[in-house]
Amino acid sequence: MADIQVLTIDGPSGSGKGTVAQLIAKDLGWHYLDSGAIYRVLAQAAIKHSVDLADEQKLAVIAQDLDIVFSLADNSLKVMLEGEDVTTLIRSEKAGNAASKVAVLPAVRSALLERQHAFRQLPGLVTDGRDMGTVVFPDAAYKVFLTASAEVRADRRYKQLKEKGIESNLSDLVIEISERDIRDSERTVAPLKPADDALILDSTAMGIDTVFERVRALCADAY
Ligand code: C5P
Repeated sequence: MADIQVLTIDGPSGSGKGTVAQLIAKDLGWHYLDSGAIYRVLAQAAIKHSVDLADEQKLAVIAQDLDIVFSLADNSLKVMLEGEDVTTLIRSEKAGNAASKVAVLPAVRSALLERQHAFRQLPGLVTDGRDMGTVVFPDAAYKVFLTASAEVRADRRYKQLKEKGIESNLSDLVIEISERDIRDSERTVAPLKPADDALILDSTAMGIDTVFERVRALCADAY
């Protein structure tokens, strides 16, 4: 397993990591894991089964048995929970916030570790999240930490949600995203922070093409 190469892209919400990760995975011909989607689906499963988002023991059991299927359709990630298409449902900021509540719980995070490791398959894996380079794949050959100013991230998220047909309000998004950033950065287990050996990219004033080229250059010897 450990000899299968991994590129990790971590960063706060709206930094553009998902977009870049999917582009580079396609370019390299590697698998792709959207680890945030797992936390989003878990929160959705908890809501569906009326489990409190703070009930660590029950959530860890749900995490262990989570019936989740990812597939790529027309270049976008389709997500199924217990046979139901939740692709759009899990993308709202409300779903992101619920995800960050279940993500603070240590038993939940450890129940999801093996599931994430299973995505490490030949010819390689590109993954994005908060702790991919620090906790889940600490031995990854390539690590990026992608960030951007809070305003730019909220604006990007607003446009992204609009494209997906999800209504949102920019000023609410600024508040929700910063609440989520604080929860993700201040939790005791696997907080959002760059790995010591990560390339840190601030994309506040960078277009997606430039970010893509910088990440591509980092992984040049994988091509
Ligand atoms: O990346 P995304 O916004 O979809 O993630 C949703 C939430 O899931 C994050 O705010 C974070 O709390 C949690 N998450 C995490 N660790 C990851 C990926 C996501 O804790 N590796």
